Parts: sequence; structure tokens; C-alpha cells
Amino acid sequence: SEPLRLGIAGLGTVGTGVVRIIQNHAGMLAARSGRPITISAVCARDRMRNRGVDLSGYAWEDDATAVATRDDVDIFVELIGGDNGPAKAATEAALAAGKDVVTANKALLAHHGPALAEAAEAAGRVIRFEAAVAGGIPVVKALTEGLAANTLTRVMGVMNGTCNYILTRMESAGLPYETVFEEARQLGYLEADPRLDVDGIDAGHKLSLLAAIAFGTRVCFDAVELEGIRRIAIEDIRHAADMGYRIKLLGVAQMTGRGLEQRMSPCLVPADSPLGQLQGGTNMVVLEGDSVGQVVLRGPGAGEGPTASAVMADVMDIARGIRLPTFGQPAASLAEPFPARGAVP
Ligand code: NDP
Ligand code: HSE
Repeated sequence: SEPLRLGIAGLGTVGTGVVRIIQNHAGMLAARSGRPITISAVCARDRMRNRGVDLSGYAWEDDATAVATRDDVDIFVELIGGDNGPAKAATEAALAAGKDVVTANKALLAHHGPALAEAAEAAGRVIRFEAAVAGGIPVVKALTEGLAANTLTRVMGVMNGTCNYILTRMESAGLPYETVFEEARQLGYLEADPRLDVDGIDAGHKLSLLAAIAFGTRVCFDAVELEGIRRIAIEDIRHAADMGYRIKLLGVAQMTGRGLEQRMSPCLVPADSPLGQLQGGTNMVVLEGDSVGQVVLRGPGAGEGPTASAVMADVMDIARGIRLPTFGQPAASLAEPFPARGAVP
């Protein structure tokens, strides 16, 4: 059968992970997808950089839009990042050129998800983004497929591993925020712009995407009430521990009489609860549906293997002919998530 041909833009942590899975598991991917999955072309900024994977069999392009629009590309895999710039331009170009898109880019979708979903549907294409939320945890698939017959009542969880690392390390080592922040920087955990992590923005992006799927609303990141972890002092963590609690950067999205509420903020959780026990960079997402009750998913929220695993699951869905709309239902049927932050009910 015909191979499904990828064009990959971005060969950093996630991009090289995707290349590695395709190279190391070609037979398994083909058997499970019903057709071989191949790479036609790749791009990154620095062509000369050794990325630890053999790229010699793929065409090299100097720009992401060139990858996205090649005749020998069926799926554009966007692994550059950023809510604007080359990631957005190339994604739009891919859709216009009749390609499907798989991305790990939560910032792009949190800011432009509705417009991109509409563009995809108008072109008869799909955008899939499992890797964008909670890395290796298949939470988008849980919502769009496994729990599709439920009315979701609440979605919550810890969705930024860096913040969870900082908070757990502050408690276990008794170190102040600034010291642990510096450790996290040296360990390479922080985003290039660390405000995305510590101000709750990255986690807020993820929550807004889950909320859109869960509640059938247009993504509205601007309506997420955000508070990060910068102001958490070691004394706060000690007082919480004395009372049997831990502080977690917790996201909660729920539909209320006033409309959709989305909040990402430091919260006290019982130390002996599953959320309280969550250590290091691990993520946990709790989904509540009217028929199923509560479902808890826990796993690695970042890193090469886990994130590439999620990217490839989307690619394999497309190879299998599974073509779900971006947010689980047609973009035109998504409701407005009133009220936005600060609006009078
Ligand atoms: P990296 O910074 O490791 O890699 C980014 C890649 O994009 C690099 O290869 C870089 O090239 C390339 N790049 C940058 N600008 C351009 C451009 N203008 N044109 C072409 N290529 C460009 O990022 P990650 O792999 O960590 O992240 C990729 C995406 O995955 C982001 O959206 C991120 O939010 C998301 N994600 C990442 C996770 C993780 O654990 N790392 C987890 C979940 C999601 P060069 O290498 O030459 O500099
Ligand atoms: N900075 C993010 C985190 C990366 O720490 O969870 C994964 O999205």
C-alpha cells in the first residue's frame, strides 16, 4: 500500500524523537497503520548541527513552509513551536496546499485554534495535537474518543511538569523558589521563555485546549484566569505541609451557570491524594463525565520519547483513516465560552 509521507519542521527534542521512532520501528508502524510511514523532507534552523539521527535519506529544506507545501508530503508535522511566526505560517500553508497537520504546539492552538480548525475543515484536512497537552498522556484521545459519549462536567490537572518539579523540589530539599528555579534552568527544564512555565501560561494553554474539547466551546485562552508559582515562598509550602497539604499548580475547567470557568493557579491539595503525591515532571489529568464518573490519567508530560510517542499516535490515526475534527466536533458547532474573564454575568 501507498506510504504516508511526512514533512517535519523542527528537529529539536521532539522532532528528533519522531525521526527516531520512525527509523527504529518502521515495521511495527506499518503493520499497525496499514501502510508504511516515511519521511520525505525535514527542516530546522541549523543544517550543520549534528542531531544524533541520520537525516541523509530526507530532503532538506531551508524553511518550514517549503516543507509544508511539497508535493511528496501528505502530513506536515510542525515541531518548531511559538504561537506565531514560521509555525503558524507553515501550518496555514500546509492546509491551503491540502496537507493534514500534526503539531505539538499548544501556544499556536491556544491562540489560533478556532481559525486553524476552520481552515482545516474548509480544506477537508485535519489538525491533530495530542502531543500539545500533557506530553505522552493520551488525554486528547481520551476526550475525543474514549469519553465521546459523556457530558463532561469537569476537567482538571497538573499540566506543567516544570512547575511541578520546582514545587516538589522546594518541599523535598527545603530550598527557596529562586534556587530551584536556577536548578531547573540548568537541568534544561525551562522553556526558552521561562515565564511560559512559571507564570502558568503554558499550563493555561493546555487547559484551554482540553476545555474546548470537553465542553464543545471555541478555545478561549484569554478567558483562563492565570496565576503562576513565582510568589510561592518556602514558608507557604511548609505551612501547607504542616496542615497535611501540598501546593500544586492546578488547572480546573468547568461549565457553570455563568458559562465556562477556566482557572490555572496554585492550589492546596491533600498531601496523600493522587494529585498531592505527584512528583517531579509528571503530569496528571482528571476527567469527569456524567456516565463514566472520574477518570485519572498520569504520566510523563514532556521529553523526547513521551512527546514523540504522542505525535506518532496522531500520525498513525491519519494513516488508519481516522480523521477527527480538531476539537472533536466541527468547528462551526463549537459554542462561545461566555463569559470571558472579567465579563459581568
Ligand atoms: P526545540 O527548541 O528543542 O526544537 C525546536 C526546533 O525548531 C529546532 O530544531 C529548531 O532548529 C527549529 N526551528 C526553530 N525556528 C525554526 C524556523 N524558523 N524554521 C525551521 N525550524 C526552526 O523544541 P521542542 O522540540 O522541545 O518543542 C517543539 C514543539 O513541541 C513546541 O511547540 C513545544 O511547545 C512542543 N512540546 C515540547 C515538549 C518537550 O518536552 N520538549 C513537550 C510537549 C510539547 P535548530 O535545531 O536548528 O535550532
Ligand atoms: N514546559 C512544559 C512543561 C513542556 O514543563 O510541562 C511540556 O509541554
